[in-house]
Amino acid sequence: MRKIMLLNAKGGCGKSTLATNLASYYASQGRAVVIADFDRQGSSMEWLEARPRDRPPIRGIAAWRDTARVPRSTDYVIMDVPAGAHGPDLTALVRRAQTLIIPVLPSPTDIRAAAHFIHEMLLVGKIVRDETRVAVVANRVRENSSIQNTMESVLNSLSISYSTLNTQIYHNLERFLSRLRIPFIATLRESQNYLVADARGLGIFDLTHSQVARDIEQWEPLLKWIESKRSIPEPAR
Ligand SMILES: Nc1ncnc2c1ncn2[C@@H]1O[C@H](COP(=O)(O)OP(=O)(O)OP(=O)(O)O)[C@@H](O)[C@H]1O
Ligand SMILES: [Mg+2]
Repeated sequence: MRKIMLLNAKGGCGKSTLATNLASYYASQGRAVVIADFDRQGSSMEWLEARPRDRPPIRGIAAWRDTARVPRSTDYVIMDVPAGAHGPDLTALVRRAQTLIIPVLPSPTDIRAAAHFIHEMLLVGKIVRDETRVAVVANRVRENSSIQNTMESVLNSLSISYSTLNTQIYHNLERFLSRLRIPFIATLRESQNYLVADARGLGIFDLTHSQVARDIEQWEPLLKWIESKRSIPEPAR
């Protein structure tokens, strides 16, 4: 069972959008999917309620209030979590996942906040112990923007300021960032297709192919990464 969490302390960066799109993608592939919504806003649950009955089923767990168990036969558990998780709450959430995907909006403030958030997560023992794998996804990027340069330069400058921190953590941070190679795994454009799909309880993978070809192409590196060993921590392999 793959346990994938969409996470970022920042609100509105696309956690729920990525969660519902991943869930509907795996469902369309015939996999058994659970979407666990830890956010009491319930966006993922509302999306699931709107989902047409003739589409491949996805099971929902309103995890902010339900303690329902995920069936053993589940292939993918996709966890959508609220913004603003810090400290012990963040630790408790992160421990549920093998794979963390952090969507980041393309503004310098969001990128800086994400870098600090990633750093906070490195203090959560689980990531230091290499029991969780992390990727960053740039989301809502207007095409032709200079997001890549901005992200790289901000993360690079942060790694300098981190040099005063505990050497071990700094080392892990460095390793972590270099494991991402470019500091993020995929770039998803700003696209109405996400809104169209969302309103209908669907993902972009369910829309007419010609309409979403460009978006689907942008998901490929993320989907590939999720299927690769690089996104699965050692004990879970
Ligand atoms: N790539 C995209 N293109 C266009 N709109 C997008 C894209 N990604 C997300 N959105 C829109 O941005 C808004 C915020 O996205 P979403 O709800 O997924 O963020 P979130 O991180 O779950 O927010 P919250 O922290 O409130 O839970 C939504 O209206 C969503 O439809
Ligand atoms: Mg959300």
